[in-house]
Amino acid sequence: MRIIGIESSCDETGVAVYDDSLGLLSHALHTQIAMHAEYGGVVPELASRDHIRRVVPLIRLALEQAHTAPSELCAVAYTAGPGLIGALLTGAMGAAAYAHALGIPPVPVHHMEGHLLAPMLEDPHPELPFVALLISGGHTMLIKVEKPGSYVVLGQSVDDAAGEAFDKTAKLLGIPYPGGPGLEKLARDGDPKACAFPRPMIKNPGCDFSFAGLKTAVLNAVMGHKGGLSEQARRDIAAGFTAAVADTLCVKCARALKETGLSTLVVAGGVSANNDIRGALSDLMERRHGRAFFARREFCTDNGAMIAYAGMQRFKAGQIGTSAVKVFPRWDLSTLKPLQD
Ligand code: KG4
Ligand code: ZN
Repeated sequence: MRIIGIESSCDETGVAVYDDSLGLLSHALHTQIAMHAEYGGVVPELASRDHIRRVVPLIRLALEQAHTAPSELCAVAYTAGPGLIGALLTGAMGAAAYAHALGIPPVPVHHMEGHLLAPMLEDPHPELPFVALLISGGHTMLIKVEKPGSYVVLGQSVDDAAGEAFDKTAKLLGIPYPGGPGLEKLARDGDPKACAFPRPMIKNPGCDFSFAGLKTAVLNAVMGHKGGLSEQARRDIAAGFTAAVADTLCVKCARALKETGLSTLVVAGGVSANNDIRGALSDLMERRHGRAFFARREFCTDNGAMIAYAGMQRFKAGQIGTSAVKVFPRWDLSTLKPLQD
């Protein structure tokens, strides 16, 4: 069985073809970063219009690269939420129309389930049960996954998401949107101990996160340099900020693993592309004699492959959509139906 997956929830149009027995056959991506960069962030209307332009050529490209004819597809998976409503609608309508034309079902996919399952595309891949840390631009969550498709939220951010904290800190340091990758580069030659940033909420019980205070601490550090920031000061702040996020994530992950008695950690979402964060979480799992799993870096940020993979799991469970185009800009991951009874 072969499925095509379409991602269009934010500023990346991604399309991929996934085969149930052969694995991932192709993936094609167009990122809108350059288009939004001059505005310093995603402009939703521009995002929607660009998805409309890109989705059909990317479907053609993904099929061509997968040496797949449309008649070989069993379903069309698409991101139904959460995300920007206009952006979601373009992918959902494209998927519904394409599925209708081919006489196959559309399969709505939860974007965060896509992220969470992206490490399943790797070899070796994690086995259930595991704790998942989702760190993206809009979400920071710790989730217990004991049964396929069933997600128990152990904790989440009470304010900014980890990616949002990266983006806002990057802005304070004069790094263009999207800040995460630029901040990672800047941090490379910085001293993580030069600035004593807080490790928010590590003393609070439970697995919730808070990153707003850390952002304020960065702002104070920036303002403290009256004559403007030297290049080394920018590097030190970037490194200190990354270390504070990494330490905080490690403390909360350790707590979630202890609480659940599990020893496998799956890390997904855009921020999991960061090598310092990957290193800190891998070290944590080594110390705990457990194992950390990540997606390859290009599948940490938004892509079609994760939607095709998650869509295949939902399709196999008989959880297909209807021809009515429905999207969910807000959608609680814990409300998804389990994949098995
Ligand atoms: O998962 P994602 O692509 O989109 C959402 O679903 O939100 O995550 C995007 C977020 C952005 O905040 C971006 O700055 C962050 O992931 N990000 C990174 C890195 N690459 C992307 N943060 C830190 N280091 C990176 N290398
Ligand atoms: Zn995402």
